[in-house]
Amino acid sequence: MAEMIYSPGLEGVIAGETAVCTISGGLSYRGYSIDDLCENATFEEVAYLLLENTPPDSSQLKKFKADLAENYRLDPQLEELIRKLPSDIPMMDYMRTAVSLVAHFDREVGDDSPEASLRKATRLVAQLPILLAFYHRLRQGKEPLEPRAEDSYAKNLLRLLTGKEPTAAHIKAMDVSLILYAEHEFNASTFATRIVCSTLSDLHSAITAGVGTLKGPLHGGANERVMEVLSEVGSSENAPSWVSEALAQKRRIMGFGHRVYKEGDPRAKILKAYCVPLANETNNQEMETIADIIEQAVSSEKGLPPNLDWPSARLYYYMGLPIDIYTPLFVLSRVTGWSAHYLEQQANNRLIRPRSKYTGKEGLRWPAN
Ligand code: CMC
Repeated sequence: MAEMIYSPGLEGVIAGETAVCTISGGLSYRGYSIDDLCENATFEEVAYLLLENTPPDSSQLKKFKADLAENYRLDPQLEELIRKLPSDIPMMDYMRTAVSLVAHFDREVGDDSPEASLRKATRLVAQLPILLAFYHRLRQGKEPLEPRAEDSYAKNLLRLLTGKEPTAAHIKAMDVSLILYAEHEFNASTFATRIVCSTLSDLHSAITAGVGTLKGPLHGGANERVMEVLSEVGSSENAPSWVSEALAQKRRIMGFGHRVYKEGDPRAKILKAYCVPLANETNNQEMETIADIIEQAVSSEKGLPPNLDWPSARLYYYMGLPIDIYTPLFVLSRVTGWSAHYLEQQANNRLIRPRSKYTGKEGLRWPAN
């Protein structure tokens, strides 16, 4: 047997092949750089690109948007079930349940062919923002709002969550954040999704595993924890000493560091540019200043650059969104990447089943009766 290599956390290990996304030579989805996509594409176009492996032409885009709109309406029985849920479920737990619940109402459940899986993925892209906004409104004691077929994905999402007509600047900023969150090769949640797929299990099961994996604070959950950092720091004067103390106590500062990007996360830079105008518009300049000082201190003291969750938390805060839906927003976007990986794994499957390095006892004997 060939010598087995062990790398804790699979760090540096190539665990599979993909044509969905690469981070080598800059982050790109299916060959298109994220700078290009953020500047020139919409989230719907990026979702299509990831799922269908080609950018949509105008008639394909029209049909894709119509497919999404057709799935905005939740089954009345599903709505009843959601209304019966406790009103204080942690939002990522709700998202996990929502993906699982909506599967029971999917007309192609039990059909795991590539064609049906793609259609199920498209339906999930449409249904997840509706499911999120539906429960969020209910827990606020408000009735859910009707989505509009003619509105863009980002516009619908913001209006359904806040009950207000979003401005063009907010729509563009939300769109860019969704594009940036959509895909990131073999991150933990995508890998979990691929593992589930590799056993020939269904798309909803794989996405449910993705949601559960994303929830953790070392992954998607970090964007909510970033707000705890900003509120703990409180003022620009306090920022340098707060960072020194946190690092001295070996605390992990949420929104900094990355397993792969040691020189900086290119997504963070793109999104930061959208934070500044929104901070000005909402009188949150002080928070931008605090964030800048923390960034400088973490960089000079520990050499760690910010990751995408660092600006996205502030962006959503400036939009007036509640903190506990920041990670669910990540879910709405990443479902496109997870699904693209599910379809890719399915098309060229090999069961993912690595080995472990045994560290336990050996040769013990069970006492005789
Ligand atoms: N704050 C303080 N120290 C850190 C941080 C941080 N955020 N990240 C890494 N370090 C330290 C770590 O303690 C270690 O220090 P030392 O060499 O003195 O022991 C050194 O940097 C190297 O860290 P590592 O553990 O080898 O890095 P990793 O590749 O295992 O960690 C990470 C990657 C994302 C888990 C980590 O950077 C982290 O915990 N960050 C905070 C959580 C976070 O922001 N997650 C979002 C990730 S990106 C987007 C997403 O997935 O949502």
